[in-house]
Amino acid sequence: MNVRQKKPLILSIASGKGGVGKTITTVNMALAARRMGYKTLLLDGDFGLANVDIVLGLKARYTIQDVLDGEVEMEDTLLDGPLGLKIIPSGSGFARLADLKLTQRIRLLDKISEIAQEYDVLFIDTGAGISESVLHLNSVADAILLVTTPEPHAQTDAYAFVKVMCEKYGKRRISLIANQAVSDAQGHKVYQNLADVAKRFLDFDLGFAGVVPKDAVVQRSVMMQRVADDQVKHTLSGQAWNEITRKTIESLVSEPKDDSSRGLSDLLFPNFGALRAL
Ligand SMILES: Nc1ncnc2c1ncn2[C@@H]1O[C@H](COP(=O)(O)OP(=O)(O)OP(=O)(O)O)[C@@H](O)[C@H]1O
Ligand SMILES: [Mg+2]
Repeated sequence: MNVRQKKPLILSIASGKGGVGKTITTVNMALAARRMGYKTLLLDGDFGLANVDIVLGLKARYTIQDVLDGEVEMEDTLLDGPLGLKIIPSGSGFARLADLKLTQRIRLLDKISEIAQEYDVLFIDTGAGISESVLHLNSVADAILLVTTPEPHAQTDAYAFVKVMCEKYGKRRISLIANQAVSDAQGHKVYQNLADVAKRFLDFDLGFAGVVPKDAVVQRSVMMQRVADDQVKHTLSGQAWNEITRKTIESLVSEPKDDSSRGLSDLLFPNFGALRAL
């Protein structure tokens, strides 16, 4: 296993519109990374709206709120997921990320950053939309996987994400996942449309991560909280997520180490532009 010296590799999963498949994508990619042998941490970054623990049928003992209240350390929140995956759950029903004060947000991310140093890959399931706090969290990633469905307003919102991200944080590495496609051709068309518009209006090169088919097994596995079941990895959607994970990690690992690339620590010492954007 080849991992860059700068650890961890940070991959965020984003979407313009909600409900398009970010959490299910994050969980499947994190499990795929574990199968590839990477020490993997998953941060449920949609603070206040528990996603990941619910999907996996896990029960969070402590939440980020307990950390903020000084009751427990961040390590105490760590959940053991399937295949040795470690999870920082968000917990439900407390202040959303956007509602946290800057000092609280920095304190949290400082603690997460400390834990993350021990991992090869950190996946962040971020909230939907283009709020400042969501964009900021995505801006620390080495690569952003932007999820959309073929639905027209999911595509429009995905474009809005790319546009605002470019405006606020400059051109980042963003790759599209066309999820819930009814055919490979439909998924490619979704990518091509968005890539064309991004090139034309933003002069931005949108990357292509892959197509994930609409799959009844996925819906069932979510309903039954059995997303990590072995059979899921053999479905067409499971294979697509495996392949996207392999390609994404391998392409980043093979890149020359770039000391200027932003990591989680950028959140701790944000530059002026990032601070203004908070
Ligand atoms: N490839 C797929 N095939 C079939 N159904 C899917 C697929 N991907 C996602 N879904 C369906 O979409 C639902 C929403 O997925 P998920 O919770 O991952 O979305 P999300 O983007 O994280 O939502 P939110 O913005 O609310 O956090 C799932 O419960 C599942 O039923
Ligand atoms: Mg979600």
